Amino acid sequence: MDCDMDLITLKDITFAYGEDEPPVLDHLSFSLAKGKCLVVEGENGAGKTTLFRILNGLSFPQSGRYLFDGIQIDRNYLKNNQNAKLFHKRIGYLFQNPDLILFNASVYDEIAFGPRQMGLKETEVQTRVEDCMNLFHLSAYRDKAPYHLSGGQKKRVALAAVMALNPEVLILDEPFAGLDQKNAENLMAFLKEMKSAGKTLIIASHHPAVKERLADEVLTLCNNKSESF
Ligand SMILES: Nc1ncnc2c1ncn2[C@@H]1O[C@H](COP(=O)(O)OP(=O)(O)O)[C@@H](O)[C@H]1O
Ligand SMILES: [Mg+2]
Repeated sequence: MDCDMDLITLKDITFAYGEDEPPVLDHLSFSLAKGKCLVVEGENGAGKTTLFRILNGLSFPQSGRYLFDGIQIDRNYLKNNQNAKLFHKRIGYLFQNPDLILFNASVYDEIAFGPRQMGLKETEVQTRVEDCMNLFHLSAYRDKAPYHLSGGQKKRVALAAVMALNPEVLILDEPFAGLDQKNAENLMAFLKEMKSAGKTLIIASHHPAVKERLADEVLTLCNNKSESF
């Protein structure tokens, strides 16, 4: 059923990586209202990351439709730079592997990168970066190269870089993986705050606590290939 309140709607999405490959996502449909939290679960290879790439306009399904705030997101729509800019500004995406996106010389520059790209004044950039470094306890590493940090620290830098753009939707691919207990608790508290602040959250996680404490909706993806060891 269509609902005007839904921010994100997938209609009958099918995606395969190759013509002879079985589909990773097979006639998938769901919708999510603004301000709600969807937890996506499923074993390795179930298609969580593939789904997140589609939601971020980085991959496109062979069939089906993706609507974001009533706009159909497809190759054609995102070809227009203005459209792409607006769309990416509204969604923050934490990659499963932050190594892939950390490339700046320092933690400070890494977090400042997005706001600078947005054309914010350097004083505004500085305020945002300081706020985000405080939020994720990164101030002590401000001049360190992200490349040399631990896995959990890299994850916090990547998340701080996402938050510096102040997106209204957060799409987080296994944000708890590799975090120790304390950092996981901090992240949980942060995500609860984001929810209270009205952000829309989509989180891939297999931790039962994430589902129990955050989810309004749960989507369970199934592995279409048998991958037993
Ligand atoms: N770039 C790619 N090319 C071909 N197959 C891929 C690619 N990325 C993922 N796959 C395959 O698609 C399936 C789903 O992967 P993925 O979306 O990463 O699942 P998950 O994030 O749930 O572990 C897996 O079988 C994986 O091997
Ligand atoms: Mg994945």
